[in-house]
Amino acid sequence: VAAVATPALVFTGFMGAGKSRALRHAHAAGLDAVDADLLLADELGEPIASFFAARGEAEFRRRESELVLRLLDEGHEAIALGGGAVLSEAVRDALRPHTVVWLKVGVEELWRRARGSHRPLASDEHEFRRLYAEREPLYSGLADAVMLSADAVTEALPSLDRLAASGATRLIWAESESGSYPVWIGEGILPIARAAGPGNPFCVTDTHVGDLYLTELGEMPAITVPAGEPSKTMAQAEKVLAGLSEAGATRSDHVVALGGGVVGDLAGFCAATYQRGLAIVHAPTSLLAQVDSAYGGKTGVDLAGAKNYVGAYHQPTAVVADIGTLGTLPEEELASGFAEVVKTALLAGGGAWERAQRIGTLDPRPLLPLVIECALTKLEIVRSDERDGSRRAVLNLGHTVGHAIESAGGFTRHRHGEAVGLGLLAALRLSEADSLRSDVAGLLDAHGLPTSLDPAIETDAVMAAISRDKKHTSQRGLGFVLLSRPGEPEFGVRIDPDRVRQAVEELR
Ligand SMILES: NC(=O)c1ccc[n+]([C@@H]2O[C@H](COP(=O)([O-])OP(=O)(O)OC[C@H]3O[C@@H](n4cnc5c(N)ncnc54)[C@H](O)[C@@H]3O)[C@@H](O)[C@H]2O)c1
Repeated sequence: VAAVATPALVFTGFMGAGKSRALRHAHAAGLDAVDADLLLADELGEPIASFFAARGEAEFRRRESELVLRLLDEGHEAIALGGGAVLSEAVRDALRPHTVVWLKVGVEELWRRARGSHRPLASDEHEFRRLYAEREPLYSGLADAVMLSADAVTEALPSLDRLAASGATRLIWAESESGSYPVWIGEGILPIARAAGPGNPFCVTDTHVGDLYLTELGEMPAITVPAGEPSKTMAQAEKVLAGLSEAGATRSDHVVALGGGVVGDLAGFCAATYQRGLAIVHAPTSLLAQVDSAYGGKTGVDLAGAKNYVGAYHQPTAVVADIGTLGTLPEEELASGFAEVVKTALLAGGGAWERAQRIGTLDPRPLLPLVIECALTKLEIVRSDERDGSRRAVLNLGHTVGHAIESAGGFTRHRHGEAVGLGLLAALRLSEADSLRSDVAGLLDAHGLPTSLDPAIETDAVMAAISRDKKHTSQRGLGFVLLSRPGEPEFGVRIDPDRVRQAVEELR
């Protein structure tokens, strides 16, 4: 790959994703920005739609590719490409040294935007969806960064600017109502975390992870809690808060949560409350945390017998997921993280579910695309509903029974992911998705996850914990997430307690 003096920011994505809009933001921020479609229409001497109709797609693509290759060569700082420009292999090759930003917008929303427009390829919905499915892998494969909306470009520019030098394989710009932040995913990128927040860094970690990775993270005060779910308590939170105070953390500094989901939830809760809130950077080191818990800003601790009962929403300032750290993760913990992968793939459906079924051994390195895909699925859901008001509730698939199993076992019998796996089986039974339930059971089993409950856990205790689920409201009772087919979750479904009991009993 030929080196370029300065990599350009190149916006790609399907028609209607907002590439020109993104470019206008880049231009407003002072970058030399060019829109390939506008320049092409100029060169063709007529609107793209009429050229396309008169001369055909092949001739159009030839002219488009010629122009894009020239623009990439000219040293512009930002370029917006037409949606089909990446179909050309020469263009794809020429994009390599540049920072390619994929504007990823769901096909429903894209069709809503494109319908009735004069775009040549937007007259037939079926064809539109087929084209989207065909091109998505191209955008995804080329992307260095993924953005979920064009309007976040101004805020994301400093991170996009640093991307080429960061060593990260992928940057995802996470958005939610209360704040947006960069998610860096790659190998060997842990040290980014120390400077990814304001002021001085203060680490919170656990006994296993601290020993392994504190040195790599770099010199900073560290507060270490015992490893495992029993540390997600108010008592440990108080120790962490006292530790931050003794170490001299101020509101203008940041916490680095170095560890799995337990450290992330505990440190997140402390960061949300210490001096009424200081910044947190998540550096997730377990598969579970890298595919799920580090994103979306939910933090909290357990009360005796009541999972995640105390907590706060507190979005991170950044997430740094270094998949190199998965190399030291014990096999059972990799498996536990896989349960959340299965959940995410069931929610996403389509290709994601097919890929999850094909995953063989959980070797850390090939997990990179999986981590990226799961992070994106979760972040797209959180973007549309940060606080569980509606769509975010689907992320709870398998968790109502799963959390109850954890609580009923005193947080020591089943790991979180193991309990979620069992909860998925119960949820699929309640969804009457019998054949999907056996597929999921087979998949869990193949990855060393239990498909039956620890005999020491009583059904009554699980039922009691379900009735204490924090999603239970006095007005509306407790709603379950059901899934009759991959990709088609339903939330807020009331279910007769006897049927729930049967689904739990069946796990014996
Ligand atoms: N906030 C959220 O949105 C959210 C979502 C899902 C789960 N969670 C929470 O996440 C928690 C489960 O997370 P978890 O499974 O990561 O548990 P965990 O944090 O206890 O980590 C599992 C074990 O692996 C060890 N470990 C972690 N990284 C390691 C590494 N790189 N090398 C060696 N050992 C390593 C830990 O020390 C621990 O012993 C639960 O409390 C669950 O409620 C939160």
